[in-house]
Amino acid sequence: MSSIHIEAKVGDVAETILLPGDPLRAKHVAETLLEDAFCFNKVRNMFGYTGFYKGKRVSIQGSGMGMGSTAIYVNELINTYKVKNLIRVGTCGAIQEKLNVGQVILAMSASGDSGANMTHFGGLHYAATADFDLLQRAYQKALELKINTLQGSIFSTNTFYDDDPKRWDIWEQHGILGVEMETQILFTLSKRLGAKALSILTVSDNIRTGASASSKDREQSYMDMMKIALELA
Ligand code: HPA
Repeated sequence: MSSIHIEAKVGDVAETILLPGDPLRAKHVAETLLEDAFCFNKVRNMFGYTGFYKGKRVSIQGSGMGMGSTAIYVNELINTYKVKNLIRVGTCGAIQEKLNVGQVILAMSASGDSGANMTHFGGLHYAATADFDLLQRAYQKALELKINTLQGSIFSTNTFYDDDPKRWDIWEQHGILGVEMETQILFTLSKRLGAKALSILTVSDNIRTGASASSKDREQSYMDMMKIALELA
């Protein structure tokens, strides 16, 4: 048996899975950091791999961009493949001036504008939060690896392009560190379907200052983030 968007056999996917937005990142991590990795999904070129990291079985699968795409993979991974721990590994745009590109963030909670997060709750507001066990383990691993992380709240949006320069002011006032497009639905769906979720993000650009990471910096912080996530397998 397989699912609509994933052609793997049940059993091909590990209990812990990393979810980068970009399927080519999944391929790159599988080829450079995993041992004995095999590709379990090529449907829509949304590559998924399972291999071993320090002897522990772990998977990595592209989620695509946005909450619509992410929700499809999260649903199928939990319902069909019985995945237990889902860890987003992605980028965000910082909305606080003081945040440097390359900063790694462990997202404690995700506010957002997803219709799926509002309509399912009768117009009331569900607080989408990370699983505490994964969060505290990631924090410990980061300390051990001497990787500086910031723990805080982020915002998941459905609109990457937005003309309103004041849009993020109220969110910044409420402590939101950065904006991305996947975490809120990952947290909400994982909780609903009985799995644990975490989101680890690196700041790829700063919306306030216009700074963006060089490809070298991006590679370094991206590898830092991957190592924290892989240690959770
Ligand atoms: N907006 C939304 N998602 C993002 C951004 C952004 O500025 N940067 C990285 N992911």
